[in-house]
Amino acid sequence: MGSNPTLSVRRGVAQFGRALALGARCRRFKSCRPDLDYIILQQLIMQIFLDTADINEIRKRWDTGIITGVTTNPTLVRKVGGNYRDLAIAIIEEFPEIESLSLELNGQTKEDFMRDMGEFACIGHPSVTLKVPCTVEGLKFVTHCADNGVPTNVTLCFSAAQAVMAGLSGATYISPFVGRMNDNSMSGVELVRAISGLYRQHGVATKVLAASLRDAHHVSRCLLYGADIVTLPPSTFDKMYNSVLTREGLEIFNNDFKEMPSQ
Ligand code: G3P
Repeated sequence: MGSNPTLSVRRGVAQFGRALALGARCRRFKSCRPDLDYIILQQLIMQIFLDTADINEIRKRWDTGIITGVTTNPTLVRKVGGNYRDLAIAIIEEFPEIESLSLELNGQTKEDFMRDMGEFACIGHPSVTLKVPCTVEGLKFVTHCADNGVPTNVTLCFSAAQAVMAGLSGATYISPFVGRMNDNSMSGVELVRAISGLYRQHGVATKVLAASLRDAHHVSRCLLYGADIVTLPPSTFDKMYNSVLTREGLEIFNNDFKEMPSQ
């Protein structure tokens, strides 16, 4: 049986998008040989996005140089108040190099999503990633976007079966909700492992974007188990570098500096 031409085109579009993103990241690693970049980075480079709608929280951490994207949802936007589209524009204006900004669409049906996408699509920035739930209507919308080269993030994913559907629809990202899996006595990191393994085995270009991550331990497990990206609330981002042993060690070193004779 021959391959499905629609699926092949969709996969090609998704892979092209991925190559563009990799190319952008390659430019940050100037010492790499261009031919090796793609091979090495495709296998090894992990990414961190920030999961927040609070531009101040992004601002405080952006200068670390290790955040490449931002994810938002209606709950996060409601917390900070204001208009969703204005917020998206403000983020893009302040961080124009952002690789992906996930913006959740409002609606139940493909038609609702098509109507709502105009709000964000008119911003006209390549980072704009349309976020829809892993429902049949959401997947119909994702297929439409993939056929037209529009990046999507399929959210509220709680099973490998859902991830299969999202991958075949040509989603750019799939977002398994690790913390909410754990809240319901299921293993979020095992879900990430299953999805990542499945995508790699079948050459699916959709990136695994582990979400709902509330502690640093789960973040490193997700990356170890094959997530391409982790999206972190600011509090989890901070937990990743904070260590009581580092603080205690630093205090000792600082005291030793004080006791040294001046040069
Ligand atoms: O990106 C998804 C995230 O915002 C959900 O997190 O903590 O509400 O499960 P949480």
